[in-house]
Amino acid sequence: MDDLNRLRSKILDGIGAAADEAALEDIRVSAVGKKGEVALKMRELGRMTPEERQVAGPALNALKDEVNSAIAAKKAGLADSALDERLRTEWLDVTLPGRPRAQGSIHPVSQVSEEVSAIFADMGFSVAEGPQIETDFYNFDALNIPPHHPARQEFDTFYMHRDEGDDRAPHVLRTHTSPVQIRHMEKHGAPCRVIAPGRVYRSDYDQTHTPMFHQVEGLAIDKDLSMANLKWVLEEFFSAFFGIEVKTRFRASHFPFTEPSAEVDIQCSWVNGQLKIGEGDGWMEVLGSGMVHPKVLIAAGVDPDKWQGFAFGMGIDRIAMLKYGIPDLRAFFDSDLRWLRHYGFAALDVPTLHGGVSG
Ligand code: DAH
Repeated sequence: MDDLNRLRSKILDGIGAAADEAALEDIRVSAVGKKGEVALKMRELGRMTPEERQVAGPALNALKDEVNSAIAAKKAGLADSALDERLRTEWLDVTLPGRPRAQGSIHPVSQVSEEVSAIFADMGFSVAEGPQIETDFYNFDALNIPPHHPARQEFDTFYMHRDEGDDRAPHVLRTHTSPVQIRHMEKHGAPCRVIAPGRVYRSDYDQTHTPMFHQVEGLAIDKDLSMANLKWVLEEFFSAFFGIEVKTRFRASHFPFTEPSAEVDIQCSWVNGQLKIGEGDGWMEVLGSGMVHPKVLIAAGVDPDKWQGFAFGMGIDRIAMLKYGIPDLRAFFDSDLRWLRHYGFAALDVPTLHGGVSG
């Protein structure tokens, strides 16, 4: 019996000391496995006298049961502590602030386009769009610029290549957003009130010109719109955009698609080489405008005896330069990250209706 007691203590000590489930399994195999120490002892039963066997048999069975339940208990304990250990090491503080990440920024053109759209939306203008590759009909003819009209030369137009014998209409990279006027009226008729921001193209390159730039077109058609409405809309726009009351000055001009036509200046001052919009007695030209020419209405399928309205077109890049003090237009499109970091806007700087940018 001493033998058995020694074996019992050895096995139970081993179970107690097992550090993980693998060690525990080794002990199980060597103790109560088929060829384990308890099984070997069981084999000895055959050589015992019946009396001895009556004592040793139940004792061995009891040992086997005891070992099995000790192993089960230890196994459960090990699983618990493994879980505790995981919970301890994989603990995560969800209240920690996020790791800072390098962020992109909103390009001034995108920012200003959003600001312009928000301000005009407040005056009931929706946003219209047109293709950047236009037929010469929409870019010129429908806007009362027939072939050989001198205005075609003024535009430095990029023409799309055409093979000899190709009889499709000539296509151009649109030189202005004005063709969107025609497309919009053709589709939706009158009355209407839209702006059309977008890319335009001209073969030109210097500090204030790039071959691709951005314009926003405005068009309002109704029964009794006049230049007075145009002036109010533009003054309202510029005051909201620059965040200060801005006066405008209309100068008689000529565009084939408007009659009468006006170039519009905004009030500004130059003090010590610094430009300030909305004060002083200087003027800066910012856009072209006028009453939509009857021929343009006819080309777009709108009856000029019933409808009339105004249109305007201005450079988005240009007013972005004025508002945010950006000196060189070419840098807008160089994709220089240092420039973008300096002049770009944080994604959450959502433009507000009045004053453009928040914060
Ligand atoms: N399309 C003209 C340009 O790009 C700008 C313009 C002038 C647009 C007068 C208009 C307008 O709608 O009425 O130079």
